[in-house]
Amino acid sequence: MYQRRIGILTSGGDCPGLNAVLRGVTKAAEKLNWQVIGFRDGFEGLLPPCQYTILDRASTAGIMQLGGTILGTTNKGHFVAKVGSGEKTTVPKEVIESARATLAELGVEGLIVVGGDGSLTTALQLYEQGFSVIGVPKTIDNDLEATAMTFGFYSAVSCVTDALDRLHSTAASHKRAMVLEVMGRHAGWIALHGGISGGADIVLLPEIPFDWEKVADVVRRRDADGYQSTMIVVAEGARPKDGIQHYQATQGAEHHFGGVGEIVAQQIAERTGKETRYCILGHLQRGGTPGPLDRILATRFGVKAVNLIQEEKFGRMVSYQHYEIADVPIADAVHQLRLVDPSNQLVEMARSVDISFGDQ
Ligand code: F6P
Repeated sequence: MYQRRIGILTSGGDCPGLNAVLRGVTKAAEKLNWQVIGFRDGFEGLLPPCQYTILDRASTAGIMQLGGTILGTTNKGHFVAKVGSGEKTTVPKEVIESARATLAELGVEGLIVVGGDGSLTTALQLYEQGFSVIGVPKTIDNDLEATAMTFGFYSAVSCVTDALDRLHSTAASHKRAMVLEVMGRHAGWIALHGGISGGADIVLLPEIPFDWEKVADVVRRRDADGYQSTMIVVAEGARPKDGIQHYQATQGAEHHFGGVGEIVAQQIAERTGKETRYCILGHLQRGGTPGPLDRILATRFGVKAVNLIQEEKFGRMVSYQHYEIADVPIADAVHQLRLVDPSNQLVEMARSVDISFGDQ
C-alpha cells in the first residue's frame, strides 16, 4: 500500500524530454512509497470522465529515449490561459472546480504540471485557487524566465544544426541562397543557437527587426567575395522593420505561426536575382529522441519536483541555475517571456564571426 498519491500531467506543445521527466518523477516517488497518477492530454484529463493512468516502474521503463509524451498533451481546450499573441485569459471557475473535485476524489496530494509559458500560467491560476501545484518548465523555445534552460531546447537546436549541415551541401552545389525557417514565435533562441552551430550567414530573429536591403546586401556581398551560396535562418516570428509578423489567428489558442521563410526567399530572389529556395523545419524540431543534455536535465527536474512536493513547497517551479537545480515561484517564470536581448553576448559574438542579423 502506498503512503501518498501524487499526479502529473504534460501540457502545451510536446518536446523531447517529457518522458524522461515522467520516468524521473516515477522512480523518485516510488522510492518514497508514493503512487503516481498520470493525467492524459494535459489538464483535460482532470475533467470528467477523468482520463488517467498509473505510472510505475514497469510503465515508465524504456521511455526516457522516446520523443513526445506517453500521456498525450494539448495546447487547446478548457484550461487555456494564454491566447492570441500571448494575452492572458482566466480559466472558468466551473472548470477549476471540476478539476478540484477530481483531485479530491482520487486523493491526489500534489500535482506536477510540466509545461511552458501558457501551461504554467494555468498552473499558477490553479495554485492561486488553492491547488497543491509544482511546475516543471519545458519548451523547445527556451523562452521562460527564471530558469537558465528548459529541456527540449538543445534537441531542437541539434535538429536545426543537422538541417543546416544538409542544406549547406545542396546550396553550395547549386550556388543558391537557402532559407531555413525554424520555430520561435516571440523568442529567437533556436534560430540564434542553431544558426551559430550550423554556420548560417544570416539569422533573422523576432527581437531584431530586419531590413530587406541589408539582407540582400549580404547575399550580394558574399557572391562578390566568391562564396556563391548563402545560408539564412529565419525564426517563424521574425519581421521586417516597418512590417508585421506572419501568422494565422487561432480561436481559443495562441496564434499559429509559419510561412515567413517563403517570403524571405521570394524577397532575396527578387532583390538579388539569385536562385533561392526555402525549407520549413516545423515540427521536426519538436519530434524525436531527446539529446543527452535534455535527458539529464529532464530527469533532474523530475526528481526535484518530487522533492518539492515532499517539502510541501507548492506554487514553486523547478529551475536550472548555475549548474544546479533550484526552485522559484511559478509567478516569476510566467510574468514575461525571456527574449534575446539584441546586445546579448551571443549576438555580439555571432556578429564577430560575420553572421548578419539583417539590421546593419
Ligand atoms: O511553443 C512551442 C512551439 O513549438 C513554438 O515554437 C511554435 O510556434 C508552436 O509551439 C507550434 O505549436 P503547434 O504545435 O500548435 O503548431
